[in-house]
Amino acid sequence: MKLDQTLRKFVDPLPIPKTLKPKYKDDQKTYYEVRMTECYQKLHRDLRPTRLWGYEGRFPGPTIEAEKNELVQIKWINELPKKHFLPIDHTLHGGEHAPEVRTVVHIHGAKTPPESDGYPEAWFSYRFQETGPTFQHEIYEYPNKQEAATLWYHDHAIGITRLNVYAGLAGFYLIHDYTEKCLNLPSGKYDIPLLIQDRSFNRDGSLFYPEQPTPATRDTPNPSVVPFFAGDFILANGKIWPYLEVEPRKYRFRLLNGSNSRNYTFTLDDEESFYQLGTDSGLLEKPVKLNQITLAPAERADIIIDFSAHAGKKIILRNSSPPVNENTELVMQFTVSLPLSDKKDHSLPKRLARKSLAIDQPVKGLRYMTLDTEQDQYGRPLFLLSNKSWSDPVSDHPRLGDAEIWSFLNVMNFPHPIHIHLVDFLVLDRRPFDVERFKETGTIFFTGPASSPFIYERGRKDTVLATPGEITRIKAVFEPYHGRYVWHCHILEHEDYDMMRPFDVLK
Ligand code: C2O
Ligand code: CU
Ligand code: CU
Repeated sequence: MKLDQTLRKFVDPLPIPKTLKPKYKDDQKTYYEVRMTECYQKLHRDLRPTRLWGYEGRFPGPTIEAEKNELVQIKWINELPKKHFLPIDHTLHGGEHAPEVRTVVHIHGAKTPPESDGYPEAWFSYRFQETGPTFQHEIYEYPNKQEAATLWYHDHAIGITRLNVYAGLAGFYLIHDYTEKCLNLPSGKYDIPLLIQDRSFNRDGSLFYPEQPTPATRDTPNPSVVPFFAGDFILANGKIWPYLEVEPRKYRFRLLNGSNSRNYTFTLDDEESFYQLGTDSGLLEKPVKLNQITLAPAERADIIIDFSAHAGKKIILRNSSPPVNENTELVMQFTVSLPLSDKKDHSLPKRLARKSLAIDQPVKGLRYMTLDTEQDQYGRPLFLLSNKSWSDPVSDHPRLGDAEIWSFLNVMNFPHPIHIHLVDFLVLDRRPFDVERFKETGTIFFTGPASSPFIYERGRKDTVLATPGEITRIKAVFEPYHGRYVWHCHILEHEDYDMMRPFDVLK
């Protein structure tokens, strides 16, 4: 039975994930081990413990922190049960022959050599199948040759990413660098990652995830993937509507939308403003003052909230992105109740980081990618990229070091967050076009002027909302590695079926 009544808001303190300790470290490399296990956690004061899957048995997983250029090795170990506890659709890729429980870890936003990037078909046991492993693991290597940024790690197994991430397999991966250190930004306990997700529950406190779309027909497979999932409860760092006690000073928050499908438009009470320091892949050139920000699944924003004028007050972080109701409209509460512990000046730096080098590089390739929809043999919507499915041959081969412009033509009436592995990119613009004419003739006829990227996406990005009826253009430089990568819609229900494509970076 689905839990339909609501739960008391702001009764649990916000959990802050612990930083993972290395098993071994010298000046060559840092070595970690991360076990994926089943665990039970209380997600709300009035809810019984919920069965979850977590990295190191925690949801969210421990935060992994690395320095720019630090060589990090992680042994990812799958110690999960043999059966999944969420509804597996056996008609999807990987559903037919693969083991039901399969995992592969991807660090979202990291520039990682292809063999360590978490290719969806490289789920564990794949390589060791012949010898029949008793436990399954993979050692991945992360050179971290990139600027300070808020990244995250999550599961990426073919056909079940939506279920593995929903079960709890997600955590933060932060890269620090010298530039960031010199900025005197709030740090330590004043630098807080916020993983925002939505979940639904059964009355016994277990996770609810739909078995089938509504309405389903006689032909709909059971279980079946659904075209969209919006949970009834909003969680921050694994607690439902938590609160955080803060001092009257500046805090840095690393906002991450880790939901399967939901967008969030964040605001503070009274339209209170805040400052953005960074986008998905790193710091901006200078801070930007905002009073709202929209994050699609997988997008991040590094922000500063200044509580110094609010001692004694309570400030709610809100969401206004549809579908939204009086519950999902609330995210968490800041309680400005702690005494100020130091009197240091925490003024905001005027300049943050260098501009992305990609801006000026000459463009060597243009690609047009359509975002399409069809019906599958069961009458369900099937979402595609460039009218191709995952298993079609590779059709995109950018050259190592080349700058390219990719244009995403969204012919649907729904926005899709498109993510490209390996690169960070700049959002160039969005421009409306005649969708009907394009469908009939294949030619692009613009119906209005191009608009600049939103004020909060004018920095390095790895995920961009491709808006309906528009062409969204991005510019990326394909480096520093060559080999097989993927790009996909980050609505996990779409990524699994079937908005994901491989691409090859050629040497
Ligand atoms: Cu956040 Cu391909 O993933
Ligand atoms: Cu990624
Ligand atoms: Cu999508």
